[in-house]
Amino acid sequence: MSATASRPPADSAILRARRSEDVVVGDEIVRHRLATRAIHWTVALFFFLALFSGLPIWTPVFGWMAHLFGGLNVCRWLHPWAGLAFFVSMLVMFVHWLGEMRLEPNDREWLRPRKMIEYMRYQGEDPEVGKYNGGQKLFFFAAALGALGLLLSGVVVWFPLEFPRIVRELAILIHDVTFILFVVAVVFHIYLGTAAEPGTFHSMIRGTVRKPWARLHHPRWYREVLGGKTRRP
Ligand code: HEM
Repeated sequence: MSATASRPPADSAILRARRSEDVVVGDEIVRHRLATRAIHWTVALFFFLALFSGLPIWTPVFGWMAHLFGGLNVCRWLHPWAGLAFFVSMLVMFVHWLGEMRLEPNDREWLRPRKMIEYMRYQGEDPEVGKYNGGQKLFFFAAALGALGLLLSGVVVWFPLEFPRIVRELAILIHDVTFILFVVAVVFHIYLGTAAEPGTFHSMIRGTVRKPWARLHHPRWYREVLGGKTRRP
């Protein structure tokens, strides 16, 4: 028997999801092609590396985390480089996703806390939700802004002797407030991307979603993809 004959048949949706996005393959729709998934998980990796190497520097309460990296001294040099890698990967993700994250007039509604609460309660369905809803777009821009804030304040803390005292103190405040808000937002993001919406995590692993998932969460995107309007490349 030849080597090719013993292999299971290749999954056509997985193969298609390597390069294409927004296309129908059988019962599935490709939502995130391989490049998108690789960029997203690189951002996540550097985020957590920067977070876990930074927490022991921030407060002794998290001192035990330093052992993960070989001690506090390792954390002190690793953290700024992990932070820099996080910023660079965020920049790549920003450029990669910007075209799909353009805000539409309806998206402004997501700035109202009521809209967020409705969403968390699975209420207020909107048939005009495209590939990303307003909340996802706002998270995208907030994360980009947060990454910039962390970078700028981080550089000041990295090279303290180059800056006056008031700038250093302001930078520490900005760095701490931004990372705390970031962690809260990422906890919500992980919850929404996993437990709250079954099928969503799958899209960042396999690249595809089931048609009912798309019809329920992103109805306009579903209609556009089925109508062949969004095919990429
Ligand atoms: C273990 C951690 C994470 C999980 C499980 C996760 C999960 C996901 C999933 C499933 C999606 C696709 C949503 C969809 O197709 O509708 C997504 C999108 C996205 N992720 Fe993550 N993610 C994680 C960490 C991060 C981190 C650390 C960041 C940024 C700092 C981030 C930024 C984004 C952005 C901007 C999007 C697009 C907008 C959105 O869907 O909210 N993710 N994530």
